[in-house]
Amino acid sequence: MIRKKMISSLIVCAALTTTAFGQGKTLKEAYAGKFLIGCADDLTSNNEAYQASIRAQYDIVTPENCMKPQPMHPTEDTYNFATTDAMVDWCKKNGLQVWGHTLAWHSQTPQWFFQDKDSAAQATAQPATPRPEAATGPNGQRPNRGGGRGRFNEGPQASKEVVLQRLKDHIMTVAGRYKGQVVGWDVFNESIADGGDGTTENLRTYSWYKAVGPEVITLAFKWAHEADPNAQLYYNDYNIEQGAVENKGKHASSMLLLKRLLKEGAPITGVGIQGHWHLDTNLADVEKAIENYASLGLRVAITELDVTATGGNSGAFNVQQGERRIPAENYQKQAEVYKKLFEIFMRHSDVIDRVTFWGLSDTRSWRRGQDALLFDGDLNPKPAYKAVIDVSSL
Ligand code: GLA
Repeated sequence: MIRKKMISSLIVCAALTTTAFGQGKTLKEAYAGKFLIGCADDLTSNNEAYQASIRAQYDIVTPENCMKPQPMHPTEDTYNFATTDAMVDWCKKNGLQVWGHTLAWHSQTPQWFFQDKDSAAQATAQPATPRPEAATGPNGQRPNRGGGRGRFNEGPQASKEVVLQRLKDHIMTVAGRYKGQVVGWDVFNESIADGGDGTTENLRTYSWYKAVGPEVITLAFKWAHEADPNAQLYYNDYNIEQGAVENKGKHASSMLLLKRLLKEGAPITGVGIQGHWHLDTNLADVEKAIENYASLGLRVAITELDVTATGGNSGAFNVQQGERRIPAENYQKQAEVYKKLFEIFMRHSDVIDRVTFWGLSDTRSWRRGQDALLFDGDLNPKPAYKAVIDVSSL
């Protein structure tokens, strides 16, 4: 049994490094000189086939979870660096770069950051894995990860000054530790709420935004720059391309936010468009958003790319697992969407620094069950893989 497993891993490894993919080029080879190709993983498993895939296909790795505030800094006096240190070390040894994700977020962030110290001991930290929420329609909002607003700012709250000092300590410690070892950081993640009309920044009304106010984002950028002056610093969010063609909705809010950050002197390098997409994603919005961000003088990265083959934008949850229900033709449609997306990225490769896939395969993905990536659960390339490789030589 073990022998059989070893043999099949060796076959997969061999396939990953030879001509089984496209015309023999891997993803990073196909896009060399255009933009970096990335994946997301904490690299905690020693699975040979996955490690071989990471080495062959990608330039850069984003830790999927271990650098988030909850796992990295669960209590004020505890930092867990071991997983990230090992991940950074593995990447160094294998010639891969690392992207830092994320210094500040409302989700996967422990409540002690916001609580009055006396009550902090009793704080119930948020779970590292967000709880399931209802799915939404194809163009709807994504489920609220990490619970609703009732889960935030619970118990007696610390003063604004105390909360800011804690955030500063967190950023200086974490960004300081990985100084020179990460290319850059998602400094703030997902600040903009869903459902706005685009006439305001529409920041979330809880977590950092309630404890401090809108200036918290600018301050976080300044501290991250102080901790690691050479790091690229990004604002990262989902669905911020939506409404770009008509300059409305979440895209319009993102433009207002970014203009303010620039005006306030935030040392911001670029914008991360997460790219959790689906078969009916509005591609014209994607292209216009890239152009709009570039017009502000900012760089752009696609930071968490996946395209569900189920046709819906249902986030991670409430998907049918087990018996496969996805029609075969959806994989062709998915390949077509990936093709069009990479055509857009190629047209704008002068402003795009990186395209990162969120996961490694359809089973190493937060959207497990929706088959959103380029490789199936056995790391076989799907039609979408060939489509992406082919675009590189058009
Ligand atoms: C967001 C976060 C990621 C990840 C995904 C889902 O997009 O930025 O870190 O949590 O949700 O897993």
